[in-house]
Amino acid sequence: MEERTFNTAGPQIPADNYTIDPLSRFDLDDILMLIRQKRYFVLHAPRQTGKTSCLLALRDYLNKEGKYLAVYANVEGGQALRNKVKSVVGTVVDTISRELRIIVGNNSYNCIQEEAKKMESGAVVAEYLTQLSMAIDKPLVLLFDEIDSLVGDSLVSVLRQLRSGYANRPAAFPQSVILCGVRDVRDYRIVLSNQDIVTGGSAFNIKAKSLRLGNFSKEEIHDLFMQHTHETGQEFDEDCFPIIWSATEGQPWLVNAIGLEVTSNMCENRDRSVRITPDMVERAIENIIYRRDTHIDILINILKEDRVRRVIQPMLANSYNASDYLIPSDDILYAEEVGLIMRERGKPRRISNNIYRQIILSELKPAQVS
Ligand SMILES: Nc1ncnc2c1ncn2[C@@H]1O[C@H](COP(=O)(O)OP(=O)(O)O)[C@@H](O)[C@H]1O
Ligand SMILES: [Mg+2]
Repeated sequence: MEERTFNTAGPQIPADNYTIDPLSRFDLDDILMLIRQKRYFVLHAPRQTGKTSCLLALRDYLNKEGKYLAVYANVEGGQALRNKVKSVVGTVVDTISRELRIIVGNNSYNCIQEEAKKMESGAVVAEYLTQLSMAIDKPLVLLFDEIDSLVGDSLVSVLRQLRSGYANRPAAFPQSVILCGVRDVRDYRIVLSNQDIVTGGSAFNIKAKSLRLGNFSKEEIHDLFMQHTHETGQEFDEDCFPIIWSATEGQPWLVNAIGLEVTSNMCENRDRSVRITPDMVERAIENIIYRRDTHIDILINILKEDRVRRVIQPMLANSYNASDYLIPSDDILYAEEVGLIMRERGKPRRISNNIYRQIILSELKPAQVS
């Protein structure tokens, strides 16, 4: 068997990647209760935290358990279509349909997809979910991923369609829907094509709860690296772990990026008899910052947004307490939801981890603060 590795590209495949059990990363009992209670709710976290890995594991858990039919649908395909509502809702239906075929292993529900898409009104998603819920013999649980890749009229249309059938669940609409994305739906400020602004909270006022997926704990980081040690024999000096912690504070992609860099991109360490030392980890971190993988690149793009600068620049100048009242609270919430800053009760805001801090410092020089 091929050695497993640290994963830095997309959702986890436990057979190929060292993995923290995704179902242990949230309160599974809480989620199962919400599903039992027929709730529609939100799971959100910054990019590359493990949302998709968690949803896929939850889907498989539910389908194995057998009380519900759980379908995962990633709606990012609607992103490029922006305000073209009819195309977006069509894509959403196609995506659910395709995923459903994979789960049930046949085409038996295809006619529902075709019938729904013939509809003249835009309510194709609601129609499809109604017909589908009635046709299957178990309550449907729908896991919608990357919901915030939809924008404007299309997003509002999908949210309203989910609301429109809500009263008919579970016989004629999904028992439970989980909307997954970076931001909490409540916080969306959706600009329609007629320039009206709708809040996510009003378009989707049936939401019961928002759960946020957190970062890895120190123990989880250790556990992940020990999987490598157990499977390859390669050891890590214990002094590596405080460095990995302060560099990442448990951000899952960053943690894996260090693991991959230090055990396989750094050629000299592919020899598993080499013991990994703190200075090797430091070098791995420098390489990651320098190389600017997509994760880092997107971070840099986010830093170009005015609403982010308004929050970050005073922090660099160390003046966040004095000027706090000048910073719109929506901006602070945004910076937190995208994972740039952390807030803990009773403590000043801070940049989420040392890697982000270094990147921010090189992108936004404190000198730029007027
Ligand atoms: N359960 C896990 N165990 C170990 N690493 C994980 C786990 N879940 C996520 N990761 C890390 O996070 C990255 C992104 O995972 P993904 O599920 O695609 O997150 P998201 O959907 O939040 O962007 C993975 O490539 C991996 O580096
Ligand atoms: Mg994802």
